[in-house]
Amino acid sequence: MKILVINGPNLNFLGIREPGIYGKNTFADLLQMLQAWGGELGVEVEQYQSNHEGDLVDKIQWAYGKVDGIVINPAAYTHTSVAILDALKAVSIPAVEVHISDVDAREPFRQISYAGLACKHTIKGQGFDGYRQAMVWLKKHYGTPSPTPVEG
Ligand code: DQA
Repeated sequence: MKILVINGPNLNFLGIREPGIYGKNTFADLLQMLQAWGGELGVEVEQYQSNHEGDLVDKIQWAYGKVDGIVINPAAYTHTSVAILDALKAVSIPAVEVHISDVDAREPFRQISYAGLACKHTIKGQGFDGYRQAMVWLKKHYGTPSPTPVEG
């Protein structure tokens, strides 16, 4: 199984931006964790980050026919981008929305998610572990079952 992990704007500043909300671990730490979790789960992980809405749309379109699942934290574009929603609908790849912080406990505008309308599942407020939980969820629901060993 191959999973594409997409991160939107300002997530490359993890560890620097608002550590009281997003924690002190850096974006580089997150990328290392993604690869480690992929290894543990036996899934191939590709990651992509951009601060630009159109680039995120391009990457979602690129994924068509190439990956089995998408984990996406669209960051601020979650709350504004119909283009990202439409791209996720267009490719129809099973997607899980992740937010590091508990967006429901923050400003009212963070409680609207356009991208989430095209996602099968949402994980919020779990810190970096939310990405692992999203990969586990995708593997459980969309991974290929391991072949049953033949006896004798
Ligand atoms: C975020 C929450 C968004 O509201 C915010 O704009 C982000 C990060 C999160 O991971 O908690 O940039 O998606």
